[in-house]
Amino acid sequence: MWECRTVRHDTGPGTARDNRFARRLFSPLPGRYDRLEAWLSLGQNARWRRTMIDHVIGGTGVIGGTGVIGGDGARAPGLVLDVATGTAGVALQVTARSGARVVGIDLTEAMLRVGQQEVARAGATGAVQLVAGQAERLPFADGTFDALTFTYLLRYVEDPAATLRELARVVRPGGAVASLEFGVPRRGFWRFWWWGYTRLVLPLAGGAAGGRPWFEVGRFLGPNISAHYRSYPVGWTVAAWGDAGITDVGVRPMSLGGGLVMWGRRAGG
Ligand SMILES: C[S@@+](CC[C@H](N)C(=O)[O-])C[C@H]1O[C@@H](n2cnc3c(N)ncnc32)[C@H](O)[C@@H]1O
Repeated sequence: MWECRTVRHDTGPGTARDNRFARRLFSPLPGRYDRLEAWLSLGQNARWRRTMIDHVIGGTGVIGGTGVIGGDGARAPGLVLDVATGTAGVALQVTARSGARVVGIDLTEAMLRVGQQEVARAGATGAVQLVAGQAERLPFADGTFDALTFTYLLRYVEDPAATLRELARVVRPGGAVASLEFGVPRRGFWRFWWWGYTRLVLPLAGGAAGGRPWFEVGRFLGPNISAHYRSYPVGWTVAAWGDAGITDVGVRPMSLGGGLVMWGRRAGG
């Protein structure tokens, strides 16, 4: 089994205290996480995830990992970091579609334990390595990875700009970066329905399907997404990717704006 070399990294913006909220929120969820994530996103999360992964594996999903050219001309990555990997859904899809080895890192050990079971069930223990740790202080040397994915992360960190710099640090020059996050529809009509869905349906459906912890998540998500974009609008986020050293930044709102896929490339390649 291969091992990604980790380094101690004791400095950086994040502290254990900053992450307490996310850890408490996610610790009770992993048992039913994958199923409820799919239901509560009305099946859209799978499309958003696929689109994000297209941007790091070169579009066509060519099996390779050793310099094969993908559909958008990008070189297929050999080693990928997936941050906020949770139950390893993204990590598993990256390796299944590209043949890359993937390191998944996440704060919440309960999520990683289920992720480890999923990795074993998929027969991917030789390709996916899961590590406990913080996005704000990644235990990897500069330029370790050929590509990076991160999903639903920036709403949980104290300082999104500093976290983006830390994420970019571990990607080699020219390496692909892609992210997935919820969005807020721009048009008034869709925004009205999105508001109703996130404020009413999500907590009730979450609670009915998953009990108290999912009611709490459902109640938290809508206001948290709105507050995040009030502080960090999409334009701000694009500029922050640039400040972190990520170029050729693209943005694609999906499902009427309910999902947001972003991609770019570490400068200098
Ligand atoms: C909504 S889940 C997404 C899981 C997975 N990426 C997916 O798409 O299914 C968000 C994950 O982010 C993790 N997380 C939140 N803050 C983090 C941080 N600062 N560093 C690392 N992981 C973090 C949580 O533990 C949780 O597993």
